[in-house]
Amino acid sequence: MLMRLDKFLSDQTPLSRSEIKKKASGGQITFNGNIIRDCSVKIDPKASHITLSGKLITYRKNVYYIMDKPKGVVTATRDKKDKTVIDLLKAEDRRRGIFPAGRLDKDTTGMILLTDDGELSHKILSPVSHIPKYYIVQLAESFKTEYVNLFNNSLSTSSGEAFLPAKVKAFKNNANMAFIELFEGKFHQIKIMFELVGNKVINLRRVQMGNLKIPIELRLGEYVEIMHKYIEQLLVKPDFSVVFEEIEKNFSSYWINI
Ligand code: URA
Repeated sequence: MLMRLDKFLSDQTPLSRSEIKKKASGGQITFNGNIIRDCSVKIDPKASHITLSGKLITYRKNVYYIMDKPKGVVTATRDKKDKTVIDLLKAEDRRRGIFPAGRLDKDTTGMILLTDDGELSHKILSPVSHIPKYYIVQLAESFKTEYVNLFNNSLSTSSGEAFLPAKVKAFKNNANMAFIELFEGKFHQIKIMFELVGNKVINLRRVQMGNLKIPIELRLGEYVEIMHKYIEQLLVKPDFSVVFEEIEKNFSSYWINI
């Protein structure tokens, strides 16, 4: 389907139509090798070769970034005092409508999906779709085997807030490190759950959502774009033991202690 060049560029970049017009007057836009000054020309978004300031602009219906959120950064699109995950995106990657699908506490690190795909985000966040999320937890006190049953039997707070059953397991070589699978994301949930069993979370890091692990080459604050076909893995429910074994085997790649 053909579309106007300025519509294509405003969909695919953070620029507004008036900014695009200015780029065009400055000779910054090419269409199949020719400089274009009139942005109303019709192009084929999937087949035309479009460049903006020398950079090829490829058509993506939506974008998906996986970020390794550092501490001190808030999972929001805007914040009065703190840096947000959106602030960590390069200006050219900040497409209109991009937002974090889900949230991590300011002092939690790890995997965050940033996307402008509202439908996928809804599926990931909706409690009815039961998409598991996996975290490595560093505890103040040693993990106790009784936690396995306590977490599996719906912990609840004194004010009556109940949590869905969750699987937990300790890592072999460190008595203070645990792994947890959650199917919901209530405020401070993991911290509250461990408090309820008499322990305390010192550090928390999300390493997997659905069947998609955080790419280990990422450093804190970095992100990679994930193609749509891999994003579907987010909606797959893996087996807890399989995920645990994979993370334990490569523990030093997944646990970045800050
Ligand atoms: N549980 C928490 O307590 N904090 C997070 O950031 C995520 C889950």
